[in-house]
Parts: sequence; C-alpha cells; structure tokens
Amino acid sequence: MLAQELIARKRDGAELTDEELRGFLAEYGAGHVPDYQMSAFLMAVLLNDMSAAELATLTRSIIDSGRRLDFRSDGGPPAVDKHSTGGVGDKVSLVLAPLLAEYGLRVPMMSGRGLGHTGGTVDKLESIPGFRTALDLDEFQAVLADVGCAMIRQTPEIAPLDGRLYALRDVTATVPSIPLICASIISKKVAEGIEALVLDVKYGSGAFMRDPDQAVVLAETLVGLAESEGVRATALLTAMEQPLGETVGNALEVREAVACLHGEGPADLREVTLALAEESVLAVERGAPREEVRSDLASMLDDGRALARFARLVERQGGDPAVVSNPEALADAPIRATWESPVDGYVTCTDAYEIGVAAVELGAGRRRLEGEVDPAVGIELLARRGDRIERGEAVAVIHARSENSAASAARRLGKAYGFGDVPPEDPPLVWKRVTTD
Ligand code: URA
Repeated sequence: MLAQELIARKRDGAELTDEELRGFLAEYGAGHVPDYQMSAFLMAVLLNDMSAAELATLTRSIIDSGRRLDFRSDGGPPAVDKHSTGGVGDKVSLVLAPLLAEYGLRVPMMSGRGLGHTGGTVDKLESIPGFRTALDLDEFQAVLADVGCAMIRQTPEIAPLDGRLYALRDVTATVPSIPLICASIISKKVAEGIEALVLDVKYGSGAFMRDPDQAVVLAETLVGLAESEGVRATALLTAMEQPLGETVGNALEVREAVACLHGEGPADLREVTLALAEESVLAVERGAPREEVRSDLASMLDDGRALARFARLVERQGGDPAVVSNPEALADAPIRATWESPVDGYVTCTDAYEIGVAAVELGAGRRRLEGEVDPAVGIELLARRGDRIERGEAVAVIHARSENSAASAARRLGKAYGFGDVPPEDPPLVWKRVTTD
C-alpha cells in the first residue's frame, strides 16, 4: 500500500492491521518514508486515537528498532524503574534510585532532559560537577552492577525509532496524544529489561495532562500497555498544581534532593518519593507488609544509608561526591532577588506551569531541544499554597544570571502567585493508585 493511502485510512478513522502499521514504521526506519508523511500520520493518530492492537504494534516496532536489555534472567536482584510524566520541581528520581538500590533492588534508570515548562532528571544530574549521563550500555551495566543503580540519558541504542518520532512530534504539535505518549514511554522501559515499572502520572496545572480524568486515562493506558509487554506496572496519580518541593532549577533541586536524602527537606517531596518507592518494592515483593516496607525505606532516608549510596553513584559516574556534604560544590547564580508579597493573606495559588516557565526563562530549561541549560539559576519558593503571609514578606527568591532576567521572572511570579483571605483546598498529593489488578 502507498504511504499516502495508509495515512488516508488513519485520517478517515480506519483501524490499521498489524502488517500495515509494522510495514509503514519499518519503511520509515529504513528511510523510505519521509518525515512529512510520518508527520501527517502522527497528526492522524493524534486526531483519531489508536486501537489497543495498533498501540501494541507501534510499541513493539519501537522496541524492535534497537537493543533490548534483560535484567530478568541474570540471577541478580529484581530490576525496577520509575517514570514521571513530567512536572515542575520534580527531583524524585535523584532520591528514589539510590533509596531503592539501598533497599536491595536494581535501578537501571534512563531519563530525559527538561521539555517545555518541565525539568528533566538528566539536566539536574549534569548540574553536579563532572557527572556523566552519556554512558554507553556496557558502562551503564557496569555502574549498575557496582552501585545497584545507574542514571543515564537516553542512548541511541535503545528504541532509536522513538528518538526520531519524538523529534518530529515536538515540532508538529503531536506530543499530547495518549497512544503516542504511551508507546514512547513504555517501549523504552520495556527495552531496559526491567521487571517492574512505577509511573508517576501528574495531574494539575504543571502537568502535561492537566485534566484529572485525562490523567487517569493516561495512567490506565500506560499500566495496561506495560503489563501487556510483560512488565509489572503501577501508576500513582500525584498533584502538580504547585511545584514539588520548594525549589525549581537544576542545582537548586540537587540541593533539595540531597536534603531529602539527609532525612530533611520538604514533606511533599519525601511523601511522593516514599509512596513511589513503596510501590516499586511491592511490585517485586508481592504480599510484603506495606507499612513495614514504608518504615524500612523511611529509615534509610533518615539514617544516611540512601545518601551514602547516592554519593557512590555520583562518584562512579564521574561527579564530585562532595555535593552530598557540601552544597557549595554546586553552581550558584550571581544574582539573588527576593520577590515579596503585595498583600496580607493566604497563598491560594503557586501555579506550577507559570513557575516552570519562569525557570525556563531564567535559563534552567531549554527553549529548543538542542539548547543549553544554566545549572545555577532557578526559583526558591519560601511560601507555598496555604501559607499565611504578610505584605512585604519574602515569598520567593529568584536565582538569576542577570538583573534583567530576574525582573522578568518576577513578572511571571506575579502571575503564578494568588492570594486570598481563606486558605485553599489542596488537591490530594497522592490521589489514586492504578493497577490492572
Ligand atoms: N516522555 C516520553 O518519553 N515520551 C513522550 O511522548 C512524552 C513524554
């Protein structure tokens, strides 16, 4: 069938057969279908959705485009990973990976860079002086064997078709499609060769799926797809109405993750991390007593064991392990500007989307896929939803490279913050748990 006929069938709502779709994707992979036809196809999928069978074929084709690791049959500890659908101030992976390794699981973690208004784990890790995220698969496996966790950026050896499709989606307004998102995420996780996957599906203003009901559909589709590919999966829907924790920006977030690994830091970061860690353990130790698992994990944060594991990871991947005891080793921005409350009252809104955009504008994120990030800049939130503040009280600190960029971040904060006479109702931090059980 001609590519344009197949695109027309998808445009008109027909279901493609396994053979048609697989053939089309293979032709694209081989360079026989041009980007413009693939772009039209992706838009047809965005508008018309995919059947479960089509989704499975797309996912399998992406997996088969690269190498597939297998940590399930080598006799080592169970291998697990976590994926977040993207948020603002989300530094959970930096705490979770060493915590789970300390618990005795293996965590082969491949993460992304920041996209849009959201931050990415790779950018945060790279704000640690010397830390290398570009390991090849042999080195990745060696670090994993030594430390119990390894954290790298996406490698072209795993699911290379996803890299090409994602780059096209990014510039053709076809990112926010549930089947395209699910195939992209799950193919990479299946190819990692893990036994279980925990998904942190965000809902609220700073999430890609703002609408809670849509976020539930995304969570259900992700879990169903992972399970159908043989990876045990659980999703937690967690709030992203305001940033997670009190910092947004790469080095600032590493400092906060280190505080959490010291058993300190903001309560919401600790809660989301422990909830996801607990689900990861229960996915591979079915029937383990939930409270006991939680309390073991919490004590590994409180007594410094998870922190020591993080220091080992940092050192093994070329970073300066001094960052765990000496935050001065991390980059610092030359300008610090406080932003003050214009009124007396309660903070009723700390809009995660606006704060994410403010951080990107400061240089903490990138405007184009290939842009550079500034590790030092970002925003510290001194007051968050529900806090009582007085007029003139410092509400946030902007860490900036220049006075100009600090001033434009201050204007954004004016949009992000809302104030009122009564405290707001908070959406549940960990709202729902989705499994196939
Ligand atoms: N993250 C991914 O890896 N893929 C998507 O499509 C969206 C978010």
